[in-house]
Amino acid sequence: MKGVIIYTSKYGSAKKYAQWLSDATGFDVLEAKKAGISELSGYDTVIFGGGVYAGSIAGLGFLKKNIGALKDKRLAIYCCGAAHFDEELFSQLKAHSLKGGLEDIPCFYCRGAFDLKSLSFGDRTICKLLIKAVSKKAPDELTVLEKALLEAKNEPFDRADKKYLEPMIGFINK
Ligand SMILES: Cc1cc2nc3c(=O)[nH]c(=O)nc-3n(C[C@H](O)[C@H](O)[C@H](O)COP(=O)(O)O)c2cc1C
Repeated sequence: MKGVIIYTSKYGSAKKYAQWLSDATGFDVLEAKKAGISELSGYDTVIFGGGVYAGSIAGLGFLKKNIGALKDKRLAIYCCGAAHFDEELFSQLKAHSLKGGLEDIPCFYCRGAFDLKSLSFGDRTICKLLIKAVSKKAPDELTVLEKALLEAKNEPFDRADKKYLEPMIGFINK
């Protein structure tokens, strides 16, 4: 089995998981923006990884564009978000992101990080607005993402952990 991991990562979480997955599988690692479809011809397994932004998985453009050329390969996707895993939100995330031929690709969730200080000006502004909007909510009304935002407001966190890769490694080795 020869595999490659193609990731898109704005603040480093999806990149970190790509490296951990490579250590566990021996797969090569490529950054999506530097990857070309011709480079994938020698691989039978291709894994795509990206962060979660506003309920969508980042970096699936390359996969969507090339899904026809990749149809005979074993494909999987992982995404990393700041929020705790939540079955319903994950179903919504997949429904929103896995379109245009990606619907049946196995998708795995890994927890990422949130550090408001390290965000770009635009991202920090959005997050601050969201924090302001949710600050008045009762704790039991908060979504897992809103809880993560409020947690990050008090202290940056990084919940990335190799344990989140276990289901995907199980899938790869099946
Ligand atoms: C503007 C913005 C929107 C985000 N939206 C979500 C979201 O919808 N769900 C989630 O779980 N995390 C969300 N996050 C947190 C990121 O998914 C998290 O920081 C992740 O680790 C980023 O991965 P990356 O650094 O590989 O891009 C958001 C972060 C930012 C800055």
